[in-house]
Amino acid sequence: KRLILIGPPGSGKGTQSPIIKDDYCLCHLATGDMLRAAVAAKTPLGVKAKEAMDKGELVSDDLVVGIIDEAMKKPSCQKGFILDGFPRTVVQAQKLDEVLDKQGVKVDKVLNFAIDDAILEERITGRWIHPSSGRSYHTKFAPPKTPGVDDVTGEPLIQRKDDTAAVLKSRLEAFHKQTMPVIDYYAKKGLVANLHAEKPPKEVTAEVQKVLS
Ligand code: AP5
Ligand code: ZN
Repeated sequence: KRLILIGPPGSGKGTQSPIIKDDYCLCHLATGDMLRAAVAAKTPLGVKAKEAMDKGELVSDDLVVGIIDEAMKKPSCQKGFILDGFPRTVVQAQKLDEVLDKQGVKVDKVLNFAIDDAILEERITGRWIHPSSGRSYHTKFAPPKTPGVDDVTGEPLIQRKDDTAAVLKSRLEAFHKQTMPVIDYYAKKGLVANLHAEKPPKEVTAEVQKVLS
């Protein structure tokens, strides 16, 4: 399947992605994860992206479309994919359509992680991630077996630099202004499935499985 996950910061896209990936054997492309890796490695792309990310603003469409275009060429992404955090502007959605048109394929479903803004601060400020795998934990909702340590590798967990209440405000503003129109874009094509993203993780997984079955 070819799937797009859209939702505000902390709505659970990254939490559900690995489960969807395991169940449907797709490639998982998360632009946020790819950009953070580029920033950490100080690549030219990372250097350009860092300032916007630290402020909670979107990185330019050209940069993001470039990395997605490149990543989608991977053999594992030919039969299907999950896009997590892309497209985030209508321009990005149009570019994606161009890329897919050329391959003669279409998006199957857009999962909209619908949730009230008020819930998100607690989720964002309690999040701890394992940078190399992208696994995320939450001090209250999904604690690791040992505090501060990844369950699988035993490596240390870190907090994202943009996971503060202040930066969350800008990220939410960007979501409402620039990304909500993308949901309309796909709703007009009849592709959007709305999820109750405020529910506990397992219930959200069940909703996702129902939509995809
Ligand atoms: P990105 O990394 O995509 O961040 P985001 O969209 O803000 O989303 P998050 O990763 O914060 O949220 P999530 O939905 O994945 O939540 P999670 O599952 O981890 O982007 C970062 C930046 O990169 C952007 O600001 C921008 O600068 C740039 N960027 C990226 N893509 C771009 C693009 N296409 N164009 C331009 N710029 C781009 O869950 C959060 C926490 O809650 C976790 O601790 C988790 O354990 C917990 N949790 C999850 N689900 C539940 C639940 N159901 N109940 C209780 N707790 C839960
Ligand atoms: Zn994420």
